Amino acid sequence: VSANEYKEALLAARDDIDILLAESACGPLMVRLAWHDAGNYDKNLASEKWPIAGGATGSIRFAPEINHGANAGLINGVKLIQTHIKEKHQLISYADLYQMASSRAIEYTGGGPSLGIRYGRQDVDSPDGCQKEGNLPDGEADPDTGNYGGTSGTASTEDKTPGGHLRKVFYRMGMNDEEIVALSGAHSLGRAYHDRSGLGAEQTKFTDGSTTTQKFANGKVTPFHAGGSSWTEQFFVFDNSYFIVLDDDTSDPELLKMSSDKAVFKDDDFRPFAEKFRDNKDSFFESYVKA
Ligand code: HEM
Repeated sequence: VSANEYKEALLAARDDIDILLAESACGPLMVRLAWHDAGNYDKNLASEKWPIAGGATGSIRFAPEINHGANAGLINGVKLIQTHIKEKHQLISYADLYQMASSRAIEYTGGGPSLGIRYGRQDVDSPDGCQKEGNLPDGEADPDTGNYGGTSGTASTEDKTPGGHLRKVFYRMGMNDEEIVALSGAHSLGRAYHDRSGLGAEQTKFTDGSTTTQKFANGKVTPFHAGGSSWTEQFFVFDNSYFIVLDDDTSDPELLKMSSDKAVFKDDDFRPFAEKFRDNKDSFFESYVKA
């Protein structure tokens, strides 16, 4: 295909993704889907033959990867993209569609920055391209061992502290401390669910569907399925509220703060970035885009 044809196909897919995001309120799920497809990247394997180093290759759509513990619930996102977008936009890879859905959930429904991402990712075409389990971060330590990482083949990311564990996971991807803190701010969106990660409450006053209203960044009220614990009150809006709430001891106790989240203020080298993002939304956006 010509560059122009490809561009037109991308724009058409984007229109349908925008409709899907607005109608099914799946934006946060898409951000997590794209991140988990990409976040197994290992820079130490970068010189190996593609797709050994992992990254955004669409491998998450196959078992066994989709059944990894960290990916609980993401099958719903895979199915939404498959049936609503991919079947109509065959030209675009799954890997690109996942990243596009994430980017639109941040910019379009979320009101966040334009990520300016580039497209043209190639998909792996079979489960042989799946990544090994254990490359993604833990929000809480194993209650028996006190270790973050380590329960599912993640020995290389094991650590007694959340900050140490996050560094092992994110440094392997080639990220630095500022990028770890900025990317953590994606928890401005979405929720943790009891029947997925097992973290947080069954539901809270923000997620029970009866007491609060959820809005997209354009002010339009969005219906959503009840349940889970959100990090922020408006969990379809992408802004720096995650950092504001996290650093506020008087914030509503029904908002979620995992140990890995708290680390962005508790860890001495993370804290300056968390404070900067708390105080300045534009600086958060700038660092998030870069990361
Ligand atoms: C820093 C280490 C991180 C840890 C330990 C972590 C952990 C988690 C956990 C446990 C959940 C709940 C999943 C569930 O129960 O459904 C979650 C949800 C989520 N995560 Fe993270 N995460 C991290 C980083 C990130 C990053 C880098 C992004 C994106 C850039 C991200 C985006 C999301 C989103 C959007 C949700 C909500 C999904 C939904 O509402 O369905 N997270 N994360």
